[in-house]
Amino acid sequence: MARTLLIDHIGELTTNDETVGEGIGGRIADAAVVIEGDHIAWVGRASEAPAADERFDAEGRAVLPGWVDSHTHMVFAGDRTAEFEARMAGEAYAAGGINVTVNATRTASDEALASNLNRLVAEGARGGTTTFETKTGYGLTTDDEVRSAKIAGEQVDAVTFLGAHVVPTGMSEGDYLDLVTGPMLEAVAPFVSAVDVFCETGAFEAEASARVLEAAAAYGLATRVHGNQLGHGPGVQLAVQHGSLSVDHLGFLADADIAALAGSWGTTGERRGTVATVLPACDLSTRMPFAPARALLDAGAVVAIASNCNPGTSYTSSMGFCVATAVLQMGLTVQEAVRAATLGGAIALGMHEDGWVDPRGNAQPSVGQVRVGARADLQLLDAPSVTHLAYRPGMPLTAAVWKAGERIA
Ligand code: NIG
Repeated sequence: MARTLLIDHIGELTTNDETVGEGIGGRIADAAVVIEGDHIAWVGRASEAPAADERFDAEGRAVLPGWVDSHTHMVFAGDRTAEFEARMAGEAYAAGGINVTVNATRTASDEALASNLNRLVAEGARGGTTTFETKTGYGLTTDDEVRSAKIAGEQVDAVTFLGAHVVPTGMSEGDYLDLVTGPMLEAVAPFVSAVDVFCETGAFEAEASARVLEAAAAYGLATRVHGNQLGHGPGVQLAVQHGSLSVDHLGFLADADIAALAGSWGTTGERRGTVATVLPACDLSTRMPFAPARALLDAGAVVAIASNCNPGTSYTSSMGFCVATAVLQMGLTVQEAVRAATLGGAIALGMHEDGWVDPRGNAQPSVGQVRVGARADLQLLDAPSVTHLAYRPGMPLTAAVWKAGERIA
């Protein structure tokens, strides 16, 4: 029998289950949760909670699911302080800076890359993140992409192959596309669950991006797209046409893009649509327009919020900061932003339903929600409600974090 832990005296519990609580957050006042081993065994009113082996008193504070950070690039070496300074002095962001990080990453040892990743994962966990996706994409040789994927797989929940990040210096696009859709993909495929492509002028145009997505599908891998980050473009439409799990960035959307993302969910449930992932810290840090998250939600799209932690465009792992920015700058309510940063991210990773087996044959837990059977990923705020995440922006409100039932912060 696994150890049970009762967390009670929860002032406000966000479940993301509208059938058990109030509003889109499925909020329950005066609540309790019982964890059994690595999963949630009971959720409800504190007055009705069963006994457990151990008890944690939340002292009237807010509990919510751990953040699901569904878009990061955390396997890298070096930083890009000089580029950031130049940007703050008026230069525009361009994809070319990626090759600076590629050069630093290629010369770094496995240990240095693992240790930097560990630092960022630990930092995110202290801020309440319990599920991390991360991408390769700063290696861009077969060996460097494979080692990036292996290093990531040791520390994060979902690994995405982003060989199609940019064409590396010294190669033609044609030769690199042959490599990234051929031998490189074949070598990396066993270590990843999805493939991503940076569909943008200066990276990969529509035709090249489609080739990457088709090659991924031939390997049975899920797909994602970096789209519409630097200007209007075909990224969203490509992602929807290819049934990608998510399309991320979205600073420049036409009405037809918003309609396509909303329409991708059809009327029969959430499994098959494309999540619109917005990256508020990246929009801020690159001084680009904020993605129209309000319009996306109003149209019926499923929205996720992620940190996009990387050294070029968004050097933060703080999901709390991203949630506050989404509320203060993108027009979301706190409930909407919290849901997008938890359940939204889980849907973007395909980790929201019980019993999903990823393309590598690994059964995945369900995350991003507080319901019986889900992985016991919870965070306690030093505040009475999630509203304080935006009401007190920038404050370190995370008081405790559990991942798979273990206290990690
Ligand atoms: O998601 N847009 C492409 N990739 C990263 C940035 C990478 C970089 O500049 O190092 C992003 O913002």
